[in-house]
Amino acid sequence: MSRIPVAVLGATGTIGQRFVSLLQDHPSFDLAVVCTSERKVGGRLGDHWRLEDVPLNPDLEAMELEAIDPKVLARRGTAAAFSALPAEVAKDLEVDAARAGVAVFSNASAHRMDADVPLLVPEVNPDHLALVERQTSFSEGGFLVTNPNCSIAGLVLTLKPLADAFDFEAVHVSTYQALSGAGYPGVPSLDIVSNVVPFIEDEEEKMHQEAKKLLGTRSDRIVPSSLDVWANCVRVPVRDGHLEAVSIPLREDVTVDEVAKTLASFRGEPQRENLPTAPKQPVLVRTERNRPQPLLDGMAGEPARARGMAATVGRIRVSDRVLRFFVLSHNTLRGGAGGSVLNAELAHRRGYLD
Ligand SMILES: NC(=O)c1ccc[n+]([C@@H]2O[C@H](COP(=O)([O-])OP(=O)(O)OC[C@H]3O[C@@H](n4cnc5c(N)ncnc54)[C@H](OP(=O)(O)O)[C@@H]3O)[C@@H](O)[C@H]2O)c1
Repeated sequence: MSRIPVAVLGATGTIGQRFVSLLQDHPSFDLAVVCTSERKVGGRLGDHWRLEDVPLNPDLEAMELEAIDPKVLARRGTAAAFSALPAEVAKDLEVDAARAGVAVFSNASAHRMDADVPLLVPEVNPDHLALVERQTSFSEGGFLVTNPNCSIAGLVLTLKPLADAFDFEAVHVSTYQALSGAGYPGVPSLDIVSNVVPFIEDEEEKMHQEAKKLLGTRSDRIVPSSLDVWANCVRVPVRDGHLEAVSIPLREDVTVDEVAKTLASFRGEPQRENLPTAPKQPVLVRTERNRPQPLLDGMAGEPARARGMAATVGRIRVSDRVLRFFVLSHNTLRGGAGGSVLNAELAHRRGYLD
């Protein structure tokens, strides 16, 4: 079967390069166009490669960086575009691309909370994907799908099975967020070396708001979940991987063993449908007393294509009806490009890219 031509918008950035790494040998998608800002247009993709853990395929090194023109994307038969653009740039460009007939899978926050735009984590709310049919561009073949903020993407993989199994109404979380979450070049080195910064603009609000949409139920619109996620967000001098300390007051007696079994046995549509970038087990549970750690667990997930797509949970404790644990997930893979690619794989499997 021929592969679907796709573009990466913002291909020189932190998320954009992850997109390229995931798409460069993808079974269903063919990386045909790489776009960037005017500053780098005309340059070669290989000259801007900064991913230290994945080499760029030699045959992609000379790919020319192009300006973003939605009409040109459509004319060249680009069926889907993966957006790694800053939110203020994404706002109009992504809508223009959808109107031109391109399916846009976005990492940007600009349209996450729009009523007709799915905010999707395929293990958690695959039924929300059908919202694309309500978008005005859908009849032309174009639509917009978003994935959530990197700090809620891993956490929600644990909240979904826990909320299905146990009774609770609030989640308290403190984050230890990696530098790559701020893009490139990101946080100035003098602000973060030997330091932690207890403020990330809009992050706590996004976690609260996006969790409600992700865990909401779909009828003719998304009815937000009543669950409240209260976050304290902190930037730490770690390269990749967001670690989060979670506390959940429970309304019933639950054992550590029940929690561990609920998390480890969780499977969603991507696992049942064997999507290429789906981890076999979306939530891994570790029993060592000092895990998870960004260096050791950031790339969790099997098979090889799903590395960085599993969340790792550790230090599960329950006392006085309060459940506590740590969860770690890779912010630019599960919380970024990998999440969007998984969304596109689900859309492809559902026939939305035909
Ligand atoms: N980093 C994460 O962990 C993460 C996780 C989830 C979501 N996100 C979201 O994903 C998006 C990308 O984040 P990032 O961390 O990859 O940022 P980044 O490293 O700053 O990359 C931004 C990309 O957008 C391009 N760009 C900037 N202005 C442009 C313009 N006016 N026209 C066209 N292209 C333009 C840049 O091109 P140049 O190289 O030419 O400047 C670069 O390729 C953001 O919306 C962010 O909030 C990030």
